[in-house]
Amino acid sequence: MITIQYQPTPKQEAFHSTPANEVLYGGAAGGGKTKALIMDAFFRCLTYPHTTAVVFRRTYQELEDTDIKEAKSSYPKALAKYNAGRHEFQLVNGSSILFRHCENEADRFNYSGIEIQFLYFDELTSFEQVIYDFLKTRLRAKKSLGVTPIVRSASNPGNIGHGWVKKMFVDAGPYMSIQTQEVYSEALHKTKKIRTQYIPALATENPFITEDYIFELEQKPEALRRALLSGDWDSFEGQVFTEFVNDPKHYEDRLWTHVIAPFDIPMDWPRYMSFDHGYTKPFSVGWWAIDPQGRAYRYREWYGCKPRQANTGLMYTPVQIAEGILERQKYEMDNNIYVDAIADPAIFDKSRGDSVADQMSPHPPKPGILFRKGDHVRLPGLMQVHERMRFDPDGRPMMYVFNTCQDFIRTVPTLPYSQTKPEDVDTDAEDHIFDDTRYFCMSRPLTPIRKPKREPKPYDPFGRD
Ligand SMILES: Nc1ncnc2c1ncn2[C@@H]1O[C@H](COP(=O)(O)OP(=O)(O)OP(=O)(O)O)[C@@H](O)[C@H]1O
Ligand SMILES: [Mg+2]
Repeated sequence: MITIQYQPTPKQEAFHSTPANEVLYGGAAGGGKTKALIMDAFFRCLTYPHTTAVVFRRTYQELEDTDIKEAKSSYPKALAKYNAGRHEFQLVNGSSILFRHCENEADRFNYSGIEIQFLYFDELTSFEQVIYDFLKTRLRAKKSLGVTPIVRSASNPGNIGHGWVKKMFVDAGPYMSIQTQEVYSEALHKTKKIRTQYIPALATENPFITEDYIFELEQKPEALRRALLSGDWDSFEGQVFTEFVNDPKHYEDRLWTHVIAPFDIPMDWPRYMSFDHGYTKPFSVGWWAIDPQGRAYRYREWYGCKPRQANTGLMYTPVQIAEGILERQKYEMDNNIYVDAIADPAIFDKSRGDSVADQMSPHPPKPGILFRKGDHVRLPGLMQVHERMRFDPDGRPMMYVFNTCQDFIRTVPTLPYSQTKPEDVDTDAEDHIFDDTRYFCMSRPLTPIRKPKREPKPYDPFGRD
């Protein structure tokens, strides 16, 4: 007789038995998420002969160090044989469990021909949504297999996909509840209804890790502790704007919150419009008004992102974008309010013909927009955004965002630091709204920005040098 050593915790049990199509088992570190994922693939493949499960992770190294290691120690050798060259387990009933990576967005096309019945992602927040959506198009099952294809993921908060994963699973409804959502298929250009579920993991729920580990997590700094120990998705390791607060209780009094209720902006407040260009990636336009104290209010935005697809551009031409901006700016134009337009300096590049800025500019009788070059230096720009977000002792920041600017509220607080340049925002994350904000902030810096100057030569009365 073959015995399988596995006693699932109640949360792991919920993960295995849920009828939802797509599930995220997420949150705290050490909650037993990877173990549940690996065992789920094994039991499904063992139950249904001749099926294929694929476990994705961003890199092979991570697969080797965690998922494959866990599988090797969990799967009985008499039932599953590992082929190290192919990173696959062959089960006695003809099923297989494949371990695959998808390091770059384009790598998803390596899997165009594969048919998957059970699709798994470990550390889902390390993937872009396009990868997740594309790999889901590989889900199919011949009637003879008698299975319903499923997607199961595990993840800690943080990393480049934090924003879309949080929106799709964590914020979709009460924890553990099954939600019906519309999803979009990149390949079929169609939406369909699916059932999703978020199962929160807590480190303290896993009886198989030592108390020392919990004690160690408890000693970490506040944000990291909340993310790792309680699986809190509002603060996570590596979050750039930890100071950002969206508190609906204070939308009216505007204290200790960056998000506020909209109000009628006085005609004489200076106005700005900041623009970050994108075609396959989203473009972003933000409108700002400045009060007499110099406080900035983001009162309108236009984010050029495909609906339901994080970080995917609308593929509008510069002329289409200019037309869209003018449409949205009709109020200012009708009332003769001057709007100072600032853009990413890259749009002035003429090296490949007419620049994007040229194409967006007025060509009488056709109206257009005259941009001036923003300053795109990254770190000073980031510091200016931090400076504007800082609360004064009375709880008022120098930058507010109207609660109608939903894409700012969705993307900016979820930006992580870059792994390679730890002081800077990760440019693989959905950072376009942050970029337009940065150009705006650099056009009205709150603290002096010094351009590096050459040191003057010291006076040398004897002319020795
Ligand atoms: N039901 C179980 N039976 C036996 N061991 C388990 C069980 N669940 C988890 N473990 C063990 O607990 C440890 C932590 O589990 P696991 O790696 O799955 O957690 P995780 O939530 O994926 O952690 P991380 O957030 O670090 O990725 C591992 O050694 C794993 O083998
Ligand atoms: Mg894990």
